[in-house]
Amino acid sequence: MTKIATSATHAIDSEFYLPADAFFRANLPTALTFDDVSLATLYSEILPKDADIATSLSETLRLQIPIVSSDMDTVTESRMAIAMALNGGLGLIHYNMPAKDQVKEVARVKRHIHGLIQDPIAVSPTDLIGDVLAMIEQKKYAFSTFPVTDAAGILVGLLSGNLVKDRYKTKKVAEVMTPRANLITELERNVAKDPIKAADVFFNQHIGLNKMLVVDDAGHLRGLVTSSDVERITAEAKSRRKPARDANFRLVVGAALAPVRKPSGELDRDKIITHVGNLMDESIDAIAVSTAHGHTAGVGDMVRMVRGAFPSLTIIAGNVTSASGVGFLADCGADTIKVGQGPGSICTTRIVAGVGIPQLTALHVASKGAAAKGVKIIADGGITKSGDIVKALTIADAVILGGLLAGCREAPGEIMEINGKLFKQYRGMGSLSAMKAGSAARYGHDKTDNTRKLTAEGIEALKEVSGFADDVLANLIGGVQSGMGYLGAKNLPELREKARFMRVSPAGQKEASPHDVIEVSTRKS
Ligand code: XMP
Repeated sequence: MTKIATSATHAIDSEFYLPADAFFRANLPTALTFDDVSLATLYSEILPKDADIATSLSETLRLQIPIVSSDMDTVTESRMAIAMALNGGLGLIHYNMPAKDQVKEVARVKRHIHGLIQDPIAVSPTDLIGDVLAMIEQKKYAFSTFPVTDAAGILVGLLSGNLVKDRYKTKKVAEVMTPRANLITELERNVAKDPIKAADVFFNQHIGLNKMLVVDDAGHLRGLVTSSDVERITAEAKSRRKPARDANFRLVVGAALAPVRKPSGELDRDKIITHVGNLMDESIDAIAVSTAHGHTAGVGDMVRMVRGAFPSLTIIAGNVTSASGVGFLADCGADTIKVGQGPGSICTTRIVAGVGIPQLTALHVASKGAAAKGVKIIADGGITKSGDIVKALTIADAVILGGLLAGCREAPGEIMEINGKLFKQYRGMGSLSAMKAGSAARYGHDKTDNTRKLTAEGIEALKEVSGFADDVLANLIGGVQSGMGYLGAKNLPELREKARFMRVSPAGQKEASPHDVIEVSTRKS
């Protein structure tokens, strides 16, 4: 038998399995999306669990996983953003809410489990337990123990969660709280240097206590550390799961920015800049100028305005599907450009407006603009499984997920039961109801303009409840690392460099899914 050199077998592969540029050119003028392609496997020395999926969206914003939750009102508020950052990603808080509420949502993420919660939510001694219950319900707090402070902010007691019950709803907080005299507190000046270490010692010394209340010399409440936070932070340092944190160990978070306009139609610079300033005061890590059409004068003006006022803030902007769109937003000052017009699971832009490019080709074209301008791109929309994320990451720096996260417990909105199954609402930001709630400008409409009918570019839908974000993300990350193992890619730059593509026929798509069997689902009882 004649042997041929290894280089010759490589040469055979490279005739059939093409790198991105050659592949997308060879398929022109057809544009392709996720299910149209499959990736070729390559020699590998990488175990999936060792594949490093860290990425960065700007010089200052580094993520441990390349996943961002969409700035949609049925996907990301503080609960989702906290879950995303704890898992190493980023949540973008939507703007269908009053500006001051968005600032509070951001503050809630930034104050979550860092050494010391500097501004703990406190209750007043004159509140009724019923008021506290209503506040927990309304704000969706996951805790029910609160420090009690007077009007001057002096710590006067602690309201224990096991007393925040309907049974006591007519009682005043002062009647059921543990009074200040019976509380063990710590002085701010003794713990400020290393709150976690100080708290660790405190909880060892005071067996059974699980809140360390921090006060200043005058008795003002200055902070709170909980034992579960300390345990989680200590465990994090040991575990493989690394949260995405800023330089001060706070979780990272981003927020979408509304293009607020004056009645004359021009951008309201004062309102926009004041709002971003308020977000910056809460140490926001990124803002997103999210619109359906980012390659426009209006979006360019907005990005330039924010960049001019905040030179070091990470700006994400979009959406575009062309190299020139990426170039335009990069020139205006954006660090990261969102790519995707109409691929989303709730989008109807392509049907309504007849525009948009199937997502993988759009990403490839946009990536050429990004390489020329030295900016990052995020694949936004159309991702329905972990394999799609792998394909997107062969071109983009990160992905944005809407539908895949909308069924999580952490997504905003009520859970509803239909025929024994649990669902949550998921709606496009261009659906009529979302536009009426505030997002009309994203689609170039004015919600206060009664003379024109709003044209929806999205639908309202339901997603089956998919569990907690931790589990959903763990599955997706497992799939991404598996894909990287198949390609022998130890990190995302290697994934981009090594990816080789093949076109899939309808028969190939059928072959890729389970077929010719009856699927049996094994449920845990
Ligand atoms: P997935 O597929 O993850 O998509 O559910 C989420 C992304 O879809 C975009 N989006 C919309 N696009 N009409 C559109 O054409 C809409 O109403 C709409 N709402 C959201 C957005 O980019 C999001 O991240």
